[in-house]
Amino acid sequence: MKKPFGINRGKFLAAAGAGAAVTMIWPFFSSCDSRPSTTVKPELSEGFKPDVDLELTATQSKASILTGNKTEVWVFVSTLLKGDKNTLQKLEGSYLGPIIKVRKGQKIRIRFKNNLPVETIVHWHGMHVPEQYDGHPQDVIGNGETYIYEYEIMNRAGTYWFHPHPHGRTGPQVYNGLAGLLLVTDEEEEKLNLPKGAFDVPVVIQDRTFDNQNQLIYLDGQMKRMQGFLGDQILINGSASQEISLKAGCTYRMRLLNGSNSRIYKLGWDDGSPMTIFGVDGSLLGSPKELPYLMLGPAKRVDLWLDLRDKDEGTVLTMKSLSFPLDGMSGGMMGDGMMDGVVSKLPHGSEFEVFSVKLVDSGSNSAELPARLVNYQPLDPSTATNLNSPRQFAFNMGHMELTINGRTWETTEVADEEIVKLGTTEVWELINGDGMMSNDDGGGMMDGHGMMGDGGMMGGDSGMMGNMMQMPHPVHIHQLQFNILERNVDGMDPGLWDAIKEGFVDEGWHDTILLMPGMKAKVIMQFKDFKGLFVYHCHNLEHEDMGMMRNFKIV
Ligand code: C2O
Ligand code: CU
Ligand code: CU
Repeated sequence: MKKPFGINRGKFLAAAGAGAAVTMIWPFFSSCDSRPSTTVKPELSEGFKPDVDLELTATQSKASILTGNKTEVWVFVSTLLKGDKNTLQKLEGSYLGPIIKVRKGQKIRIRFKNNLPVETIVHWHGMHVPEQYDGHPQDVIGNGETYIYEYEIMNRAGTYWFHPHPHGRTGPQVYNGLAGLLLVTDEEEEKLNLPKGAFDVPVVIQDRTFDNQNQLIYLDGQMKRMQGFLGDQILINGSASQEISLKAGCTYRMRLLNGSNSRIYKLGWDDGSPMTIFGVDGSLLGSPKELPYLMLGPAKRVDLWLDLRDKDEGTVLTMKSLSFPLDGMSGGMMGDGMMDGVVSKLPHGSEFEVFSVKLVDSGSNSAELPARLVNYQPLDPSTATNLNSPRQFAFNMGHMELTINGRTWETTEVADEEIVKLGTTEVWELINGDGMMSNDDGGGMMDGHGMMGDGGMMGGDSGMMGNMMQMPHPVHIHQLQFNILERNVDGMDPGLWDAIKEGFVDEGWHDTILLMPGMKAKVIMQFKDFKGLFVYHCHNLEHEDMGMMRNFKIV
């Protein structure tokens, strides 16, 4: 039997695309804790009257991404059954998407059909929905099955997204192309005269690696999996050209989503212009913020203002990822030579171009960025039940294992400290590192892949290992949006902090927070409306797949 994680995804896709039966046995099944789903919802609820009703089918396809051979990808095919025709938008020329546009208060039904040869389920990242519609890994459906989601849009205006969420296979499924945007608007946003339609531009940033047949290559070893996937080429909205064509004379809202499996970007305009940010994950800000550069961790979204009113046609603006010293496994020390093939041609933290904005035409629009956007009312810390003794969750890379408070994923298990009460407000302290190394011997997960085996240079529980294994963890909590109270960087490498400290927007409503090695952050959240089992996890998708995910239960 093959090693569960030792599969070259590119090869698998090639085989499946060459007409292999859809019922082929997927080697992953043998080792994962998937079980027959108990909550499949094949029935439409009689009483539910959707404003928007759509079909979303995950299926295998081919896309022209590079010149020459088409690339085997996985896509969401969508059809609008009911609702305004602008509800469903394709990402033009892209295998990614679609974009679903909804309004707060609307009721949406999504008939998700799985036409893939593997189990999957769709999760609505950032959305406040009942348990059975959140896309919990236990709700995976098999080939040919349908899962019905029916919920009311309760979130604020913001940029949300959706992607698969089966345990152990989220990384490869997103990598193969399954990701779309869910854009929510509300009354408060509509009053603002922000750019709409063609002036509201999605920018999904992902890194990919192709083989010489233009096929996607995913990870092929435990070492790379611990590090997280790093591609050697940036795609923007699924396109390799990295070019966005806009009009001089106009103003734009650019909705940036870091849809990469593990890469962090330090985004900055090449000419040194500040980044004007006016929205984060689940909300617009009270007022726009200007930053020299912006740190965008996996799964994070921001609204970036772009004013082209005094720019000429023909101008090209370049957005770069600027360098920052990420040591440890993702760069530096473990670089070339030391670990052949582990390091991407685009090392994590190196400087490279992310996209360019080309002014191919000119025009005008009337949209403005107001100095005051929304009435931002964060949760009041004094209303938290545990302000002075926050729940602590430590995200650790231990001895070949990725843990949260020493535990790894179990489909339905919750520890006592993971049970919270409906109707309460709590502070959680999310900690990257803290020396709580797992004492588990790794269960053989890493053996057989050379370097990381026992007795090697990485074999110790402390010392070298402790430092080298520290990696960023973009921590995501399902079901809610939180406010960030504080970041504590006492445990961080000062050089790293210095290089990134001006790149965070902590105001607003967030569902994901990038925790750099040694960083701690306090976040405040409220559990409301829905009881049930939800997950929180590291959104480095390889870490998530390797078990850096846990349930929390609202009772
Ligand atoms: Cu974007 Cu649990 O996921
Ligand atoms: Cu999520
Ligand atoms: Cu992580």
